[in-house]
Amino acid sequence: MKGVILAGGAGTRMHPLTRITNKHLLPIYDRPMVTYAVESMVGAGVEQIMVVTGGIHAGEFFRLLGNGEDYGIDQLFYAYQERPGGIAEALGLAERFVGGDRVLVMLADNIVEQSIRPLVERFAAQERGARIVLASVDDREHLRHLGVPELDGSGRLVRIVEKPAEPPSAFAVTGLYFYDASVFEVLPTLRPSGRGELEITDVNNWFIDRGTMELDVLEGFWGDAGESIDAYYEVNDFVRSRRHRSGGSATS
Ligand code: DAU
Repeated sequence: MKGVILAGGAGTRMHPLTRITNKHLLPIYDRPMVTYAVESMVGAGVEQIMVVTGGIHAGEFFRLLGNGEDYGIDQLFYAYQERPGGIAEALGLAERFVGGDRVLVMLADNIVEQSIRPLVERFAAQERGARIVLASVDDREHLRHLGVPELDGSGRLVRIVEKPAEPPSAFAVTGLYFYDASVFEVLPTLRPSGRGELEITDVNNWFIDRGTMELDVLEGFWGDAGESIDAYYEVNDFVRSRRHRSGGSATS
């Protein structure tokens, strides 16, 4: 399974910090944000990775990650997104890298506490299609800024609504997505959303419509550190307190 880490976008919600660096290079406790996604993937045995980024600070990713060796990455590739056209557009840049394999996509502003190895193993055992990862979120206002799944009475996915005014459940769709190679058939059919982006939620709904989307519910802490300055500090506080308690890794 290949890994794609998406670290593009304009980062406008984090201005003025993101005028001087890429959002995913801002510190989370003692290291840059993007390294948490790298560690999650490598810790789960996903060691062929492409980082997709863009903007004027893209070169800084080379300075941080180099050829990936220091992070346990077997092969590290980079792609450059010319303009922030959306998560699904950024994923499209990885098509040749993925090359018919399966792929784990991770948004570089998502931080998860637990090992994602069990998720990787469950997707490897899945016959085909895609897999999303949900996190329980109690705060309805928070859910209005995320992708939210609608579930039927038996807990099966009906659809995902992006940034819903009325959240249809108390779960967020996290920025970890698993796809088989058919994802690259969907991407060219997408149309830009109201915010002018190719939405990953449209991709996920395509798999739901075909009955080939499975789900997991995440245990432990999950945070989107790029959602707002408050969310950024909430994630920082969690990682810092965890490191102080354990004296070891902030995420496992
Ligand atoms: O964090 C989880 C949420 O991420 C999901 O619940 C939503 O369904 C999903 O749409 C996404 O929502 P956001 O509003 O947080 O997406 P955002 O525009 O902040 O982009 C998330 C990351 O994707 C960003 O940190 C870098 C990458 N990205 C984004 C865009 C727009 C790119 O690489 N290129 C892009 O053009």
